[in-house]
Amino acid sequence: MSESTTPTVREVGIIMNGVSGRMGYRQHLLRSILAIREQGGIELPDGSRLTVKPLLVGRSEAKLAEIAERHGIADYTTDLDAALADPRWEIYGDFLVTKARAAALRKAIAAGKTIYTEKPTAETVDEALELARLAAEAGVKTGVVHDKLYLPGLLKLRRLIDSGFFGRILSVRGEFGYWVFEGDWRPAQRPSWNYRAEDGGGIIVDMFPHWNYILENLFGGVRSVYAQASIHIPDRWDENGEHYDATAEDAAYGVFELDGGVIAQINSSWTTRVNRDELVEFHVDGTHGSAVVGLFGAKIQHRNGTPKPVWNPDIPDEHDYDAFWSQVPVDDVFQNGFRQQWEEFLTSYATGTDYPYDLLAGARGVQLAQAGLQSAREGRKVELPTLSLH
Ligand SMILES: NC(=O)c1ccc[n+]([C@@H]2O[C@H](COP(=O)([O-])OP(=O)(O)OC[C@H]3O[C@@H](n4cnc5c(N)ncnc54)[C@H](O)[C@@H]3O)[C@@H](O)[C@H]2O)c1
Repeated sequence: MSESTTPTVREVGIIMNGVSGRMGYRQHLLRSILAIREQGGIELPDGSRLTVKPLLVGRSEAKLAEIAERHGIADYTTDLDAALADPRWEIYGDFLVTKARAAALRKAIAAGKTIYTEKPTAETVDEALELARLAAEAGVKTGVVHDKLYLPGLLKLRRLIDSGFFGRILSVRGEFGYWVFEGDWRPAQRPSWNYRAEDGGGIIVDMFPHWNYILENLFGGVRSVYAQASIHIPDRWDENGEHYDATAEDAAYGVFELDGGVIAQINSSWTTRVNRDELVEFHVDGTHGSAVVGLFGAKIQHRNGTPKPVWNPDIPDEHDYDAFWSQVPVDDVFQNGFRQQWEEFLTSYATGTDYPYDLLAGARGVQLAQAGLQSAREGRKVELPTLSLH
């Protein structure tokens, strides 16, 4: 008779700062950390298990107590310094508003914690790079949210690229956005700080870090950016129904030159009404094939199935262009991208392997946002020098 052995389980304490916010609560606490804990942790390559224990941190004790109660969480505090000084908590997770992030990360690095943070990692590239350097000097492992890379549509895109489907990739066209209500007759569906530059808002700071890691991981590092930014809706109403002046752009129209010559154009807008299948879509054209991918879906057209339109404004075009595309089948089980990335980060932490989506990668995202803002301000293309820790 064989004896059954119970695998060893290691519990890792995680400080979760900003857990009352949209991202902190839904994506990081509920969908990731509690989900991992409830399934008994993750299996490591050596067969042992790693599970997680959250410490909720925030400014409002009442809010923390309510979340802790709702989800049966034992630990919460408003004292970040005490949490950072306590060796039971090995990882510091940051989901604060962007403006509050750099100061908190600096403290957590000084306390020797492993860092896992939302993007953007800071408001300026100098500060983002300084954080990456401080972490490297302190020998602290870092991870930055790259959640969009884990979307089913983008995973399918990666597979298409890896298979050589596209031939030589020429260009990428991205459309991101939807209508964010002004807040007067219908409440806005995003926090009001997003529309105030002085509070760290703006669609460039919000979205360009995402575009940076998507572009550099799928098509090539970003070498230059030209962006046109606009505050299309100058008057908005906040969470209390109070009027405020929007001071941050609610739309940005960007052109990006990539290593290897691919050209990307991405529109980012909170002032557009959706007429696409999904809230974000990327259209990729290559010499041998093209694809349109979204959050979930991916459709392709090979060179052999490409119609041959002839421009003639006098005759109605009889092609049904949609009909020439075929869906990429779904044959994998995809889980929430935030959770997938947490699991990979925790595995990398436990096994001591290099983690690619670190604070330096985060700094490149901030660099692209800053360059995008500069380009919009100065009305010219801005080159992006390669960032390094030294
Ligand atoms: N990865 C993504 O797809 C994604 C999507 C949206 C937002 N984000 C990023 O996540 C972060 C949080 O965004 P959100 O939409 O959850 O915002 P939110 O306003 O819902 O939450 C922000 C959190 O920060 C706390 N906070 C606010 N001001 C603070 C201060 N001065 N000091 C300390 N704490 C403070 C709030 O109490 C709250 O817990 C932002 O950096 C944003 O860029 C990422």
